[in-house]
Order: sequence, then structure tokens, then C-alpha cells
Amino acid sequence: MLEKIRESIDRIKLLSRKKEIKIISHFDTDGITSAAIFSKALARMGIKFSLEIVKGLDENYLKQLDESKVLIFLDLASGSLDYLKTKNTKMFVFDHHEIIQEIPENVFIINPTLEKFEKLSSSAICYLFAREISRENIDLSNLAVTGMIGDLHDKHIGRIFGEILREGETIVKKGFLIYPSTRPLDKTLEYSLNPYIPGVSGNREGALNLLREAGIKSENGRFKALYELSDDEMKKIVTGVLLRNNGEIDEESLIGNIFLIKMFNKLEDARELSALINSCSRMDKPEIALGFCLGNKASREIAEKIYINYKQSLALAMKNVSQIDKIEGKDYLILNAKDRIKDTIIGTVASIMSHSPVYDNGLVIVALAYNQDKIKVSARVVGREGRNVREVLHKAIVPVGGEVGGHSNAAGGVISKDKEEEFISELRKIL
Ligand code: C5P
Repeated sequence: MLEKIRESIDRIKLLSRKKEIKIISHFDTDGITSAAIFSKALARMGIKFSLEIVKGLDENYLKQLDESKVLIFLDLASGSLDYLKTKNTKMFVFDHHEIIQEIPENVFIINPTLEKFEKLSSSAICYLFAREISRENIDLSNLAVTGMIGDLHDKHIGRIFGEILREGETIVKKGFLIYPSTRPLDKTLEYSLNPYIPGVSGNREGALNLLREAGIKSENGRFKALYELSDDEMKKIVTGVLLRNNGEIDEESLIGNIFLIKMFNKLEDARELSALINSCSRMDKPEIALGFCLGNKASREIAEKIYINYKQSLALAMKNVSQIDKIEGKDYLILNAKDRIKDTIIGTVASIMSHSPVYDNGLVIVALAYNQDKIKVSARVVGREGRNVREVLHKAIVPVGGEVGGHSNAAGGVISKDKEEEFISELRKIL
């Protein structure tokens, strides 16, 4: 893959002398961090470009793309190769989603799933591209780490990820996976929704009780942050959380790698950064997320406000879930939220549901939300094993038409609103 990355640099440099460059990137954390890395790398080479952040690709969007430009897709397009084939221009795809269609001749694709390569996020692929251009770009490694965490590559640190972590001087610490691990623990516990800790989340007195039981005291009115705890204190906190969950959560899921990186000269938890970037896009402000990643101070202030609003919207959406009728089968649950949950939030809602101890391992959750004349579909599987939900969605979407893509345990798609009933019926048959 590194060889192909070098080749892509030469090709892009050459083409940029004759044609304008347009970058199109996905709106989630991995897509935004990819866009920030790629933009900085091109700008530092003096290459001009335009950039657009999109929720996804569909036929109409691809049709109207200007063929006089070189098109570079980040964190998307692996599922849209049949459409790209019809475009009369040179295209580059830097992506990590599964490829099921033939690669057209006019598309130069860099995707670790094509080779026996370590699993990487698109931001990490874009970082390798930037680093091949110049070692000066290793200051972008923090963004690559944030994208890796945003796409849940936190459990396994392979060779390339290890290199990126070292280059970013990232601090990796084993501990309780509650974030942000960099803020006083009383607040982090009180505001924690994922995991939800009964009697502690949303309950200040409960959070203080848990700290008291673990023997953690405040100093000068301030509690330590999670990353400052000793191993013994960390163990006591986890035991306290397990006791409050009546054995419904396993210890393994509460413990993992905490990644601390420097951003705006402050030590930050990569999970928190990822959540903040993601929240801006979900609240229809991807340009603020991008500004934040590029180090813009004004964007940072706005992003922090949006993040607070987003958490409130998500809490409301989760409350709505319990009131929405669900179609429940033996191994599946379909939540048709219609216009009661925003299309940009429905994927996160499906993810939170899939992590809930309420549902059995292997259950397929498919959530639907309206977006004007379209329906956004998100599918997840509870636990680590189960059906390949990208295949399930693909089968159900083919007969009704629409877009689909993703991974075996998390996939998404878009269909036309007038196909709602037909799609649900196809889906039920398949499930
Ligand atoms: O949108 P949602 O969060 O449900 O998507 C789950 C996964 O599927 C994400 O990794 C997303 O990038 C991918 N996806 C895709 N093509 C789509 C929709 C989602 O590759 N059309």
C-alpha cells in the first residue's frame, strides 16, 4: 500500500499542474480528520484545491460533479465504484470501507482491505500519504489518532498505528473507558452516558459516593482526572461501577486503552475529541469541525457550544426511542423513527442501542429516520459476533434502489421515502 501511496503523490502532483483538484470527504470524525490532514498536506506543497464535506454519495450527487476537475474521495466511494466508472475524469479514493464492485480504470484506489494490510482508518491512510510527502507533516499524526479512535480502532495497536502513536507522542494508558479522562473525575462520572452507570450518571451525590467508596479524595476542592489515577484506584472505580450494574456489564468492556494527545496545547482524550468533531457534523456544521481540526481558535469555541447542544439532542433522541413502536423479530429489531429522530443522529442512536446490556448478543438493530424525501438507514449488530449487517442491508436495498455501504458490524444506507414499506418488508424477509 505504501508503494501505491507514493505513486498517488506523483500522479496528484502531476495532474494538479493541468487540472483543478476537488476533495470530497465524509462528514464523520474519520472523514473530517482525513480532510484536515489531506488539505494541510496539499497546501504545504502549494497545491490549490477545493473541498466539500458530504453525508454520503448518491447517483445524483456524483452525476453533477464537474469532470474538468481531478476528484479525490476520502473515507468514502469504495461502495460507489460503479457510479465512478461513468465519470470522465481521473479520480483517487483513499478509503477503508469494503469493496464489492470492480475497480474502474479511471479510479486509483488506496484501501487497506485490498491487501493483507493492517486495519486502518481513512485518517491514518491520509496521514501515511502526508508523511510520504514530507516528515514535516508528522505534526498531523494527532488527527490520524483521533480518526482511528473515531472509527473504533482502539483495541488493537498494530505496527502502523503504533508508529503513528509514537510520532504524535500520544500517551497510551490502560484504564476505565469513560471519557473525557482528562477532566476532574466527579464531573466525568456524573455526565457519563456511555457507559450509563446506574445511580451515578446524572446524579452528583451518586458520583461523589462512588469516589468516596474508592477512597479517592479531592485536593484543594478538585478531584483527580481519570488518567492520573493509580492502578489500584482505577481498579476500585471499576469494581464500584460493576457493582452498580448488577453484573449486566462485563469488566472487559469497561477496560481498554485511553489515548491522550496534545491539541491547542492541552492534553486531550482522543475519544472526547472524536465525539466533539462528530457532534459538529451531526448538527450540520462540518465546516466548524474542520476548522477545529485545522487549529482555528474561533471554530474551537463554536465547536464546544455545539457539542453541548448535541449531547442534549442525543439524550432527547434516546428518550424518544422508548416511545417509538418497534418491529421485533426473533433476532432483529427495526426502529422506524420517521421524523422523531434526526437522520444525522440515527446512526449514533443505533450504536448506543447495540451497546446496551438490554439486548442479546447477535441481535441485528436496524434504525430508520426521514431526511426530506429520503430515509437514512443504520444497521448494527449487538456484541462482537452476528450476521454481516452490510450484506443484510445490501440485500434489502437492492430491490428498492438506494445507497449502501459500511462494515460487517456497522453499515448504513439511504433509500427513497416512497419505498419505506417495501424496504421494511424486504428487510423482515431477510432477517
Ligand atoms: O451511517 P451509519 O453510521 O449507520 O454508517 C455505518 C458505517 O457504514 C459507517 O462506517 C459509514 O461510513 C458506512 N456507510 C457507508 N456507505 C453508506 C452509509 C454508511 O460506507 N452509504
